[in-house]
Amino acid sequence: MSVQINPSILSADFARLADEAKAVEGADWLHVDVMDNHFVPNLTLGVPIVESLSRASDIPLDCHLMIQDPDRWAPAYVEAGAGSVTFHVEAAAAPVRLAREIRAKGARASMALKPATPIEPYEDLLPELDMLLIMTVEPGFGGQAFLDIMLPKIRRTRALIDKHGLELWLQIDGGVSERTIERCAEAGADVFVAGSAVYGADDPAAAVRGLRELASA
Ligand code: DX5
Ligand code: ZN
Repeated sequence: MSVQINPSILSADFARLADEAKAVEGADWLHVDVMDNHFVPNLTLGVPIVESLSRASDIPLDCHLMIQDPDRWAPAYVEAGAGSVTFHVEAAAAPVRLAREIRAKGARASMALKPATPIEPYEDLLPELDMLLIMTVEPGFGGQAFLDIMLPKIRRTRALIDKHGLELWLQIDGGVSERTIERCAEAGADVFVAGSAVYGADDPAAAVRGLRELASA
């Protein structure tokens, strides 16, 4: 699969979200971080903003739910227009049922792992998913330093995906920048979320192109 770059609007100007989506022309998906101040110690946005953004923008939305009780809430994000919905396995009561529900409603189903959550217990769940997200920072905030200690987990996950011959996308989120993206790509990631590295740049669209080039090399 080719490389995908998903800018995270967590680092964008929340008062100008439609314009900020246009500023990353050429990006594959717009990454939308939903935080509830329970699963993570931060609060961002919810269903109504996702609904408005999906109407205002052509770029598909990749919703990353850092919330408790995703079993209850994830379907509403599909209905709001998200093309991909990621729930955290640490928060889900019934991840298989939830992934099936997200797919049945017409979105890509994705499951996220915090840094201390291993992939191995979830090997048998992988066919139920369209994407797996490995967090490379503790979720909650943009602008944190990339955790190099996650590289072995990325490699082991890539090996499991290949062993089973799955189409599953492998997404990395946290601290992705021009300095770290090559290491992640080499370890087997193919979908890269970048917040501060894109929206902190003078030219966000150029930053997306630069990241794509480095990851594709
Ligand atoms: C953090 C979020 C990330 C965040 C990444 O919990 O899930 O998507 O926006 O920001 P950077 O790229 O600045 O680390
Ligand atoms: Zn995220």
